[in-house]
This record gives sequence, C-alpha cells and structure tokens, in this order.
Amino acid sequence: MKIVVTIGGSVLIKNSDYKKFKEYVDVLLEMKAENELFVVVGGGKPARNYIKIARALGASEALCDDVGIEVTRMNARLLIIALGDAAYPKVPHNFAEALEYSSSGKLVVMGGTEPAHSTDAVGSILAEFIGADLLINATSVDGLYDKDPEIYDDAVMFEEITASDMMDLLSNKDIMAGTYEFFDQTAIGIIKRSRIKTVILNGDDPRNIIKATFEKIGTTILPQ
Ligand code: UTP
Repeated sequence: MKIVVTIGGSVLIKNSDYKKFKEYVDVLLEMKAENELFVVVGGGKPARNYIKIARALGASEALCDDVGIEVTRMNARLLIIALGDAAYPKVPHNFAEALEYSSSGKLVVMGGTEPAHSTDAVGSILAEFIGADLLINATSVDGLYDKDPEIYDDAVMFEEITASDMMDLLSNKDIMAGTYEFFDQTAIGIIKRSRIKTVILNGDDPRNIIKATFEKIGTTILPQ
C-alpha cells in the first residue's frame, strides 16, 4: 500500500525529549518494510511559541506561517536523525522534491510547504500527489469529536464522518498561523476531491498507525 502518515508536532515533541521519536522509528521501519511510506511532521508547541514571538514583533500572518514551516522542517530533521540510514537525509520543501527523494528507496520525511495551511494539508496534498491508498493523521486525541474533548466531558467521537460534514463542523473556525484547528479545511477539500481514505487516530501510541492498516481505529473520513 502507498501510505502517507502525518504526525502532529504535539504528538512527536510533546515533552521536548527524544523518546517519542525513538518509538516512531520502530513503527515507521516496520511499516516501511511492507508499504511505500511517506511521513509529514507538524510543528507542535515550539512552532506556536516561535509564531507568537514573530507576531508580537510585527510579522504578517504569512510570515508567521513561514516561521511555523521552519519549525516543522526542524522536527522533520530530528525524525530523519532518529531514522538514521533508513531516511533520505534531506527534508523536501515541496512535493516534487518529495517524489524525487523517494526514488532513493529511503523513507522521505517532510514538514510544511507554503503559508496558509497546516501540515494536515501537506499530508493530504502529498497523498493526492503520490496516489496514496491511505492517509493516516496521528494526533493527540483518539479521533474527531463533536466538541473539544479536553474541555467537554460529554464530547462524542465520530467513528466515521463524511468530508462534507466535517467541513461544516469546522467551517466557522478562525484560520491563523499556529492555529489551524483540529484538521484544516484545505486538507478536507483535498480528501474530498481525490477520495483519499483517511483515518485520524491517537498517535501517542505509535502502534495505532500500524493498526489503521488492518482494523478500524479512530475516526475514518469518508470522502463524500
Ligand atoms: P502544524 O501543521 O503543526 O500546524 O504547523 P497546527 O495545526 O497549528 O499544529 P498542531 O497540529 O496543533 O501541532 C505549524 C504552523 O506552521 C505553519 C502554520 O502557521 C501552522 O499553524 N505552516 C505549516 C504553514 O503555514 N504551512 C505548512 O505547509 C505547514
């Protein structure tokens, strides 16, 4: 299978240590043995911190996004370091480079590309670009809820949701650098237009991404 895995920065760099990177290496190598795999890494708290400083210094939203992109690429570098020889040593800055680097047979790890979206969108565009069979979005919650589960105890997780319903659910949210909400709308649009099978799951346990290849887990976005 061709698979794109997007790992939220808040999952990978939650405690500012190396342990989650190591856990992900084992799982990604296991998946790579049987699949064509691409990985996209988010920015997490470090990105939000840098963006906050840039905004306070007078940066435009696009410039703040650019700062965020740099941080996602730094996280991608850390994962490349952790993967060692199994990974292509450079972080692609666009999708053509991602394809080019993948011809080496090594695992390609990228961060952001251009302003005005998050790495969720990068994952979906990459999935569209390579014709992926599956897009997996590893986040810090179990799936998509009808409201924020960290605030509301009675939040209910969707096991399945159509891309159109998800778009409606997220459509009244603000779009600003560092806050592309739970799943950004560009990503949903791409999933819908290219009918990419997508699963949102809890990446705190990286083995969940292996489970997503053969069992139902998290929230499945139906491309309708
Ligand atoms: P993330 O993808 O981590 O965004 O990129 P996020 O959704 O805000 O963070 P998580 O998922 O909660 O961890 C960090 C920031 O980098 C910029 C955006 O400002 C984004 O919020 N960015 C990232 C871009 O502008 N373009 C990209 O392609 C990627």
